[in-house]
Amino acid sequence: MTQKSEFRVEKRHILHSSIFNQTLRDWQGLQCELSAKNFMYPVFIVEDDNAVQPINSMPGISRFGINKLKNHLEPLVSKGLRSVLLFGVIDNLPKDDCALNADSPNNPVIKSLPKLKTWFPNLTIACDVCLCPYSSHGHCGILFSDGTLNNEASLERISDVALSYGKAGADIVAPSDMMDGRIGAIKEKLIQHKLGNKVAVLSYTAKFASNFYGPFRDAAKSKPAFGDRRCYQLPPTSANLAIRAAERDVFEGADMLMVKPVMAYMDILKTIKDKYPQYPMFVYQVSGEYAMICKAAQEGTFNLESGLMEILMSLRRAGADVIITYFTPLILDLLNPKHKL
Ligand code: PBG
Repeated sequence: MTQKSEFRVEKRHILHSSIFNQTLRDWQGLQCELSAKNFMYPVFIVEDDNAVQPINSMPGISRFGINKLKNHLEPLVSKGLRSVLLFGVIDNLPKDDCALNADSPNNPVIKSLPKLKTWFPNLTIACDVCLCPYSSHGHCGILFSDGTLNNEASLERISDVALSYGKAGADIVAPSDMMDGRIGAIKEKLIQHKLGNKVAVLSYTAKFASNFYGPFRDAAKSKPAFGDRRCYQLPPTSANLAIRAAERDVFEGADMLMVKPVMAYMDILKTIKDKYPQYPMFVYQVSGEYAMICKAAQEGTFNLESGLMEILMSLRRAGADVIITYFTPLILDLLNPKHKL
């Protein structure tokens, strides 16, 4: 026997009347709007100025030498690209315990910054600040001889690297190392050197020890030589620690906050955005998420363009203001009104 429902559709229950045409549907979703302003594009810079090195684990993504990066960015800037996030990758320069080449005059990021600023004066340039691509051990901080983290020495080194990027022309420094106290240390150093009002600090606030960074470590040649990063990146199980990390970053003077990766951490994104609506909220759709979406689309699981748009709008709905994504070049095309989805 079927149960008779008590419920009857009444006038106030009719939702279809709010969404029967595209304009009405748009009004229901204005907070999810996307424009070029909502994107930051991560790029990898290598030592050889004329190199283009495709990254096998990230379809369509290459490491570039500065001359090739110029060619790659020119059409994107004319399509509205607002900001990039630079990662240096070294092959020939030596790696050592203190990551000396993170900010030596030969570092590809240090060398590229003045050029990029001249070529693209309106492009906002963020630099990832970390030791792992330049340290012999592949960890993100300085280690004691027993392999444990030396927090004090790490803060000194990481804030020096951030300062060097600021001096070379970075608009934003983005420490991804996750050492305790780094935001305060960087802010203090920037202020001491009169860069306090010229360089913003984008904190990788809630960066989890994730499975989704695999392709990046290949791209940046930054795999740890031993152990893993679970002592300094957040445990995926802990929303509470992520909130404490956000509280601390705000207290230490971060200008912008971030959650990374994002698809498995949408709850964290929403919680931090709700708690700190005053702060621009960044999310990093990381290398593993990028590769996963590419592969699913390639397999025919969904259409890349419309599937990607659905994901991006969901990130906006959950509270993301800026999305750092390797899909930025494709997205700039999709946002062009001439493009039909
Ligand atoms: C460096 C760093 C990583 C990413 C950004 N900065 C890797 C890591 O922590 O191992 C990951 C980005 C991505 O996967 O796209 N500390």
